[in-house]
Amino acid sequence: MKAAVLNAFGAPLDIQDLPDPVAGTGEVIVDVAAAGIASYAANVFNGSRSYPLELPVVPGPGGIGGIRTTGPDVTKLRPGDWVFVDSTIRSRENIANPEQILLGWTYRTPAALPLHRIYHHGSFAQQMLVPTENATPIGQIAASDAGRWTALGRLLVPFGGLLAGNLQAGETLVVNGGTGGFGGAGVAVALAMGAGRVVVTGRNQGALEDLARRYGRRVRTVRFTGDEAHDRTSISDAADGPIDMVLDFLPREASAAQVRAAALAVKLGGRVILMGGLRGDEGNLGLNYNWLMHNETTVRGVWMYGKDAIPRMVQMVRAGLIDLGQYELTEFGLDEVNEAVTHAAADAGPRQLTVLRPGRSR
Ligand SMILES: NC(=O)c1ccc[n+]([C@@H]2O[C@H](COP(=O)([O-])OP(=O)(O)OC[C@H]3O[C@@H](n4cnc5c(N)ncnc54)[C@H](OP(=O)(O)O)[C@@H]3O)[C@@H](O)[C@H]2O)c1
Repeated sequence: MKAAVLNAFGAPLDIQDLPDPVAGTGEVIVDVAAAGIASYAANVFNGSRSYPLELPVVPGPGGIGGIRTTGPDVTKLRPGDWVFVDSTIRSRENIANPEQILLGWTYRTPAALPLHRIYHHGSFAQQMLVPTENATPIGQIAASDAGRWTALGRLLVPFGGLLAGNLQAGETLVVNGGTGGFGGAGVAVALAMGAGRVVVTGRNQGALEDLARRYGRRVRTVRFTGDEAHDRTSISDAADGPIDMVLDFLPREASAAQVRAAALAVKLGGRVILMGGLRGDEGNLGLNYNWLMHNETTVRGVWMYGKDAIPRMVQMVRAGLIDLGQYELTEFGLDEVNEAVTHAAADAGPRQLTVLRPGRSR
């Protein structure tokens, strides 16, 4: 099979012929039809994100494809079935406290290395080997729509946070960093779950206006000024009532003050879900013990989503609660993978999807 290989951090991806993967018990092979490319993929590949990742590797955290072959223990999946490949792989022997990796993306902790070495290569290839439980059927789709269905990978991440935060119909949510890829998806998912009001923060006025125009009166927007107290007042004013929950997707370039601007606006008993990228000094949020206690605030970090979220998200799309038509797709063949990675960084946004189509060539 043909695959895009990262041989060294900072080197361009190289198109190579690799042996076809072979499925054992508990595994399936997927013909990759489409793989989404994250806006920050270039920073993973040039090493600046310092993701633990053994090289060489075929990168690509999941995507959409058709089952090619299954292991002998499979019960329902059949060759040709369309599936969403979830990149989150958890160790099977310690379910109370499993190691977690993202296939073709990162192994996170040294203890997860055995998993990373077996489930190593990702979706920037014509075929991929995945644990059977990581291939979820999505029903029949047109092959031409496979790129659009990669939006599942975008939508599922905030869905994981909203489920963990127990968002209820009618509640008011703040999506901090809502003009970005995952934050923007969070707005769409929260509305589909019945949020009464969604306050979206960001710096990009055009992206904020686009979100407000598209989603109508349940969405209010706040442009960050960088003044924490001022931004918090603007968020509270836009909510026009108690804020039940904050979903934070600010990236590593943002500041703790930007997180606090939203987090400290939650009502008594409110929930703050942290899914973004802050780290180092900015990762120390400086949330006050006494405020947390008296305000009865729940602060929870969330990484990815549970497996049960996947069929539910497929149903939300099938039911018309989430419109995949909202996405502006740019698709690239496998030979154009380096252009695709550059494009994903330049064209980041809530509606933008950069997609690799490994089955196609230039
Ligand atoms: N927890 C998880 O499971 C999980 C999964 C995937 C990704 N993530 C993390 O989620 C974060 C967001 O990813 P993404 O792909 O959505 O990123 P993105 O598209 O670049 O979006 C970043 C958002 O933050 C806003 N922002 C505010 N202050 C900023 C600043 N100082 N610098 C840059 N942007 C700023 C951006 O919009 P404006 O330009 O309008 O301000 C935008 O709304 C990343 O850190 C990523 O690692 C977490």
